[in-house]
Formats: sequence, structure tokens, C-alpha cells
Amino acid sequence: MTDDKAKRRSAEWFGRADKDGFNHRSWMRNQGLPSHLFDGRPVIGICNTWSELTPCNAHFRTIAERVKRGVYEMGGFPLEFPVMSLGETLMRPTTMMFRNLVSMDVEESIRANPIDGVVLLVGCDKTTPALLMGAASCGLPTLALSGGPMLNGRFRGEDIGSGTHVWKFDAMVKAGEMTMADFMEAESCMSRSPGHCMTMGTASTMASMVEALGMGLPANAAIPAADSRRNTLAHLAGRRIVEMVREDLTIDKVLTKKAFENAIRTNGAIGGSTNAVIHLLAIAGRLGVELMLDDWDRLGREVPCLVNLMPSGRYLMEDFYYAGGLPAVLRELGEAGLLHKDALTVNGATMWDNVKDADCWNREVIYPFSSPFKDQGGIAVLRGNLAPDGAVLKPSAATPKLMRHRGRAVVFEDIDDYKARVDDPALEIDETSVMVMKNCGPKGYPGMAEVGNMALPAKLLKRGVTDVVRISDARMSGTAYGTVVLHTAPEAAVGGPLALVQNGDMIELDVEARRLHLDVSEAELAARREAWTPPEEPTGRGWARLHDLHVNQADKGCDLDFLVGASGAPVPRESH
Ligand code: FES
Repeated sequence: MTDDKAKRRSAEWFGRADKDGFNHRSWMRNQGLPSHLFDGRPVIGICNTWSELTPCNAHFRTIAERVKRGVYEMGGFPLEFPVMSLGETLMRPTTMMFRNLVSMDVEESIRANPIDGVVLLVGCDKTTPALLMGAASCGLPTLALSGGPMLNGRFRGEDIGSGTHVWKFDAMVKAGEMTMADFMEAESCMSRSPGHCMTMGTASTMASMVEALGMGLPANAAIPAADSRRNTLAHLAGRRIVEMVREDLTIDKVLTKKAFENAIRTNGAIGGSTNAVIHLLAIAGRLGVELMLDDWDRLGREVPCLVNLMPSGRYLMEDFYYAGGLPAVLRELGEAGLLHKDALTVNGATMWDNVKDADCWNREVIYPFSSPFKDQGGIAVLRGNLAPDGAVLKPSAATPKLMRHRGRAVVFEDIDDYKARVDDPALEIDETSVMVMKNCGPKGYPGMAEVGNMALPAKLLKRGVTDVVRISDARMSGTAYGTVVLHTAPEAAVGGPLALVQNGDMIELDVEARRLHLDVSEAELAARREAWTPPEEPTGRGWARLHDLHVNQADKGCDLDFLVGASGAPVPRESH
């Protein structure tokens, strides 16, 4: 392949002997950059989501420096730039409200600047899909680099997992099994190193998706942030992106339908987060790859869960890395005939070339395909009169006996109603009930918050009840668990059938049959629909307004309707 420097995007800025070239180079020189950096070498953007408000990405300045070393080594010119960061634990109403905004920030930052290839520094949950979506719409050579998980949490001799143990300890406090003092002490024991959540929550799932999609280097998913090998990976990523520019290995050559199918099956094998469903649909939408909600069921149905990690299992990401990490899982899938072996990855090799010799060092953590950790790993896509456009459930995190259940609805109109009444002693609820929450979808919350795994009423917890069927149009934290039906579409706020459920209605869930049914007559539902009044038109401004007007439903990935697709990275008109 010819490496034609003159045709590079950056040459339009830096390769000119005129007034504009002067301007483009002169101001850059105020950073002490020497002339040879403007000689036509690949300019590598390092898209950084560092922020002290995003603790999971707070070590990214170090990672960026390591990427730069690699870029320089290979004769590239690294330029780091910030984009809005999304810190899962602090941002309100929910980071999901801003995923698409960040994707716009990323897309426009890349397109507007002299960038030939880009490394995406991703970590906390939404930072990964947001950056992949933005970069996908530009179409340049792109490599994603995850920041890595935290070290295992340790509390009184026991491993504790991000998020998962917060839900668990909170339930124990409510049930009177843990004191508030102990609860507070666990706080610093859980998050004791740099990195993102170390359960197989959304961040670890999306880091695994990066690797399974072929968008990251092998081992991207699991090396802990505090392990020196994470910095090594960053260094190698810097070296590789320069080669990718020279090879013109653009993102669309990696993110093919085969890549998405590999990722969906991998999600099943790792017991990954339901959030990946929405994010992968949105990323595929940017590339024109035809990926449907039902692909998740079709591809995931035959995939068992191989990985014994919280929230579905016992171990944490640090253990996963020592056991062989994602390459060992991908090898199992490949040997079982469930991997597109020829899918291209960012290192220039095929997926199978990368993983065919991967070892597993601990079968307690990564089970063989022939004898899996859990039989059902994939995401179940449910349909029925309660979810005409689909809903999802994660079987590996659910209680087996509840996966076929008929129960009486206990309805909460929205999150405020839930909070006000869930612990009311007068609430009529028992372990056979089905908890239903409305108006927590993309428009309803707004932003489709992670509130679908509603905590159970204290009075049930005190009786030792640990799970009941829960249904909503919300999402669920990847660190959470339970028999929880999520992403019900259309959502209640746009008049989906969920809006019509009333206290006492009977609801049938049958995961095996993929059925979610509201046992109310058509005539009665028609009458309720007639009486239903839509929520008031929002009167807000700015991003909230734009989001409300244009966000797609969950089965379409919750992208904004006008962001679906790509515009490539043509060089914009000169500024002056
Ligand atoms: Fe950042 Fe979990 S809070 S990854």
C-alpha cells in the first residue's frame, strides 16, 4: 500500500506553504513543537475523557502519555484533546442522557481538526459507546483503548465488587443484617485503586466489547488499571495507530456485521451487561450495519455463560485477567464454532489469529464451553402485548424459578412514586407480585436511567425474599442482578402499553417462550388507551430539549434520529 503523505487530511493544515499553513503551524509552535513534526507524518488524535469528576478515568493523563510514546516511536505526531467526560457515579439525571452529546463532541472534534487517525481513551460506562459512536461517524483509522478495571475490592477478608456489593449491602442494611457503620466502612474498601468498576458491569462489558469487536488490542478488556501492563498496552496502541494510518485501516473495515456478531456472542459468554444491547445498536447505526434487537436473541440463545464473575458469579476482573482474560473466552467461542474467525482487528490480524493459542489458567473463573458456568448466557429479547417492540432480560442474572411466572402487578407511575411508596408498610406486595415502574425510558426519565432493578420493599427483604419479577422501560446497572425486564418498548411516556398497566393486573413472563403478556382484554386496553393522557410537552431548552425531541426508542439504540449514519471526515473549509 502506498503511504501518500500529500493525501493525508493533516496535510491540508500543516503541509501548506501559504498564509494558512503559517497560521496552522505557527500557533502550534507555541507548545515547543519542532519543524520535523510538520513534515507530513501521521497526526494522531488522542481523544481523552480524563476528568476528576469521572473517577474511573482519573488516571487517563498517564495513559495518554504512554500512547504518545508509542506514536513518537513510530514516527507519528500525537495531539491529545479533551472531550466531555461522563462519570457514572456523579452525573444527574443519568450519563445516558449525555452519551449522544459526547458522541457529537467526539465526531466534530475529529472532523474539524488535522487528525489522520485517533486513539479513543475509554473507561467509565458511557465513555466507551459515546467515543465509538462519534469516531464511527468520521470513518478514520481508529483504535479504542480502555483504562482498565480497579483491583478487587476487599472488605474483612472478602472480595467485594463495585456496584454489586452496594446493592447487596444496601439490602442487608434494610433487612437489619448490617449496621450503618459497617456499611460506611465498606465504602473505601471497595474502590481502592485507579480504574473502572471491576465487576462484569457495563464498563467491563464495554471494554470486552471493544476487544471482541476487534477495536482494541488483545487483552484490552481485563488488564487492571493499576497493573504496569496497562501502560504497556497504551504504549503499543500508540505504535499501532500510526501503522493503521499508513495502512489506511479505517474503522469501517473493522466494525463489520461479523464484528458485531462476534461481540454479541461474547456478551453472552461473559454474562455481560444489558446496556451493551443499546450501545451496540447505536454504534452499528452510525456505520449503516444492519443490526436488530432480535439479533441479540438469535445469536445469544446458543451461547452459555463461561465467566464466573459478579454480578452473575463470584470473581472479579482482576481474577479474570489472571485466568487468561477475554482471549481465553474468545478461543472457547471459536472452538465451538461461534466466532467469525476471519473478522479483522485493529492489530491487522484476524480475530482467530489473535486468540487461537490463548491459554486459560483458572477454570474456576473461565469455564470451558463443554461444561459452562451457566447454560444461558445471552440476552433474552421478550415480546408480547406489553412490549410490542421488545424488552430484554439477562437470564444469567435472574432467578431460575421466576423466569416463568404469573403475578399481580404492583404499579409505580414513575421513580418518585416508587421512592415514596416502596417502603410504605401498607403497600400490598408479596413475593408473587410483579413490580412495574413506568416513565423511566429515554424520554420519560429523561435519559433512561439505571433504575430498572428497583430495590425490593424492606418488608420483603426482612422476610428473606431476595428477588421478584420487575418490569420497566428503564435500564439496569451492569453490576445489578435479579429477574428484571428492561428496555420495554415503546416506553410509557410515548404511550407504550406499559403506560396502561394498573394495580392488580395479571402479568405473565415466560423467558423460555420469550413472552411478556399483560392479561387484560383488548377492549379494556382500548378503553384505557382512550383515557390515557400523554405527559405534558417539555418546555426545557438546550440539550435536554434536543434530546427529548429526537431520541430514538431503546430497540433502536437510543441514538438521536438525526445522528444515525456517518458523514466521514472530509476536510472542512478554511477558517480564515
Ligand atoms: Fe465508572 Fe462503574 S462507575 S465504571
